[in-house]
Parts: sequence; structure tokens; C-alpha cells
Amino acid sequence: MSIEASYNQWSAVYDTNRNRTRDLDAQVMRNRFSPHRFRNVVELGCGTGKNTALLAQIADAVHAFDFSEGMLARARSRVTSPLVNFARLDLNQEQWPIPDGSADLATFNLVLEHIQSLAPVLSRAAACLSSGGILHVSELHPFRQYEGTQARFEGANGSEVKVEAFTHHVSEFIDAGQRAGLRLVKLNEWWHDEDAGRPPRLLTLEFVR
Ligand SMILES: C[S@@+](CC[C@H](N)C(=O)[O-])C[C@H]1O[C@@H](n2cnc3c(N)ncnc32)[C@H](O)[C@@H]1O
Repeated sequence: MSIEASYNQWSAVYDTNRNRTRDLDAQVMRNRFSPHRFRNVVELGCGTGKNTALLAQIADAVHAFDFSEGMLARARSRVTSPLVNFARLDLNQEQWPIPDGSADLATFNLVLEHIQSLAPVLSRAAACLSSGGILHVSELHPFRQYEGTQARFEGANGSEVKVEAFTHHVSEFIDAGQRAGLRLVKLNEWWHDEDAGRPPRLLTLEFVR
């Protein structure tokens, strides 16, 4: 099944399934960004709008994109703020409908594991940023991928559906950001409360243009 079709199916239960990575990402986003204000935020791979609601509270405008109509439909019903505009976009397509230099924050949350080739996607995200703008990346930590963890959910007939994913090493994220002309200013690793003794669950990187 394609990644897009998988997410169209997963959208029905994405918000209600137990998912510690999703929940940890939401908490890290709240802690990092809720004290700050932004003018124009671009959210890339917004899913069901888990982080869009937070972004709408801290920005004058949010442009939230995803290629799954199922995920977008959930997001639209969850986040009704007039400051938010949801639209369909495949991040692998060459042209993005985002004006160059228009955003002071762009964020990818739990989406880049589904992108095979990081460099062109990070380069398009960098182009959206104004000078001094922040690119935030939050991903399932590759250490977890080395252990076999992968995005997955329980399908309609009760069987497990694994969503196609690609492993990107920490150095690949840093390299792709730097090639896009960005400066790495932060790298953090995060554990869920129930992760004691395990490798980090989440990797976040913050770049500045
Ligand atoms: C694990 S969900 C994360 C959603 C949301 N960012 C969150 O943190 O809850 C991954 C999302 O990335 C989207 N996605 C995956 N590949 C994509 C692509 N090539 N273009 C646009 N969206 C994509 C999926 O449709 C899905 O909504």
C-alpha cells in the first residue's frame, strides 16, 4: 500500500490509538514553542492537526500541508481557527505553493521518515523561510529505527499495517540542512516517561536561515 493510502486508512484511528511518539512530540512542541510568537508558520505533514492547534495559538497565520485527504479531513474538523489554511501538498513535488521567504517558522513533525530523499525537501523548506526563520525537525529517533521500530497501525481487519519508511541517520539530517544553506542551532534527544533504559524516542533539530 502506498504511504498516502496508508495514512488515509490510519486517519480514522490516528488520534485515538495509543502512540507514545505522537504524544511526546506534542509535548516537546508545546514546551518549545508556546512561549513564542510567530508571524507566518508553515507546517509540513500536518496530519490530523495535532500540532496545528498549538501553532494557531502562537502565530498570525498558519499554512498546514499534507498529502493525505483522510488526515486533512480530520485536521479541518479539529482546527477551525480562521488563522489556519489547510491544503493538500505532496512534499516530493518540485514546486510548493509557498512564497519564498514568507515564513518565520517551518516545521516537520514525524513526517521525514516517509521521505526518501531529504536534501530536496529540506531545500524547499529553507526557501520558504525569511532570514532568521527557524526550521524545526522532529522525527522518530533513528536509533529506534535501527531496532526495527516503524510507523504502524492496526488496520480494519485487525492486522498490522506498516507504513513505508526510510531510515535517515543523524548525520544525514544535519548534512541536508546545511546543504540547504541552514545553520544548525540545536539538536536534542527525548524520552517518553515510559522509556527508561531505552534509546531516545525522538530526535529534534533546529536550523536557522
Ligand atoms: C506520523 S504522521 C504525523 C502527523 C503530524 N505531523 C503529527 O505530528 O501528528 C505523518 C504525516 O505525514 C504525511 N506525509 C507523509 N508523506 C508525505 C508527503 N510526501 N507529502 C505530504 N505529506 C506526507 C502523512 O500523510 C501523515 O499525515
